[in-house]
Amino acid sequence: MGFLRLVYFASLLAAFTHASPLAKRDQTVVSGSLGTDGYWNDYDGGLNNYTQHDGNGSIAEGWPSVLTWASFNDLWVANQHIISRSCSQLYNTPNNSDQEIQDLYNSIKQVAHDTRVDKRFILAAILQETKGCVRAKTTTSSDGITNPGLLQSFKGNHSCNDNGKVQNPCPQDQILGMISDGVAGTGTEQGYATDINAQADVNGIEYAQAYYRAARLYNSGTIDSSGDLGKGSATHCYSSDIANRLVGWTDSASTCTLDD
Ligand SMILES: *[C@@H]1O[C@H](CO)[C@@H](O)[C@H](O)[C@H]1NC(C)=O
Ligand SMILES: *[C@@H]1O[C@H](CO)[C@@H](O)[C@H](O)[C@H]1NC(C)=O
Ligand SMILES: *[C@@H]1O[C@H](CO)[C@@H](O)[C@H](O)[C@H]1NC(C)=O
Ligand SMILES: *[C@@H]1O[C@H](CO)[C@@H](O)[C@H](O)[C@H]1NC(C)=O
Repeated sequence: MGFLRLVYFASLLAAFTHASPLAKRDQTVVSGSLGTDGYWNDYDGGLNNYTQHDGNGSIAEGWPSVLTWASFNDLWVANQHIISRSCSQLYNTPNNSDQEIQDLYNSIKQVAHDTRVDKRFILAAILQETKGCVRAKTTTSSDGITNPGLLQSFKGNHSCNDNGKVQNPCPQDQILGMISDGVAGTGTEQGYATDINAQADVNGIEYAQAYYRAARLYNSGTIDSSGDLGKGSATHCYSSDIANRLVGWTDSASTCTLDD
């Protein structure tokens, strides 16, 4: 089809559109993209969109500031559809029960209180690691380190799915222990709190940036000397994913290409 015919088609379309009975539109209903059909969604604390973040985690390099993080309750509600089915989808084990989900909620708050780690970040990290499945399987890294539980903690000793031993229901003390192992550490091994503390020495560190850097440390043990959080070993999208989760990303497709 030639250019002229395209133009002709476009003007025909325009003429048709203008001829449609606009006057009869219901003025009490918002038309088009300025309205929304998401009235059943209780959640309005962020956008379920993915933006790939590159660079050092700072506001200057385009990463979300803590002021743009959604509230804990909004993030909690927005991720219920993930948390309620992750065990079946990812680990082929029974879904989290209502009681286990309640224990998960209480344990995140408890560990946040004990460690002063932002509870929104704890939730984002749990989603990143295991989508909140209390029966997440213990994994073993290539160097033989075991990573059990909700946070796939470094040599932790709490799990409801260790070596094929699946616990259903998963006891409350195991749920609390899995989160504590990842955030407070396991005695000899450090967790998120230590990783965040270590950022206090970084010149000009921002609150959110400290958490994004801690995420890189938790995932790969080191931060690339350039400060670029997409560089180094393990999952390159990890810190970018965490940043997106904190502003409302749940299940829309990730557009991160760092691991491609
Ligand atoms: C954000 O997500 C909405 C729906 O989930 C989609 O329509 C829109 O195109 C997305 N925007 C961006 C910038 O990705
Ligand atoms: C991060 O990048 C910004 C902008 O390039 C720079 O001003 C800042 O010093 C860097 N911060 C860290 C901690 O690397
Ligand atoms: C897990 O929960 C989801 C959502 O409620 C449901 O669709 C799915 O069938 C459940 N799976 C099992 C094995 O119960
Ligand atoms: C788990 O590890 C911690 C720290 O190493 C230790 O104090 C605790 O007794 C262990 N718990 C179990 C059940 O092995």
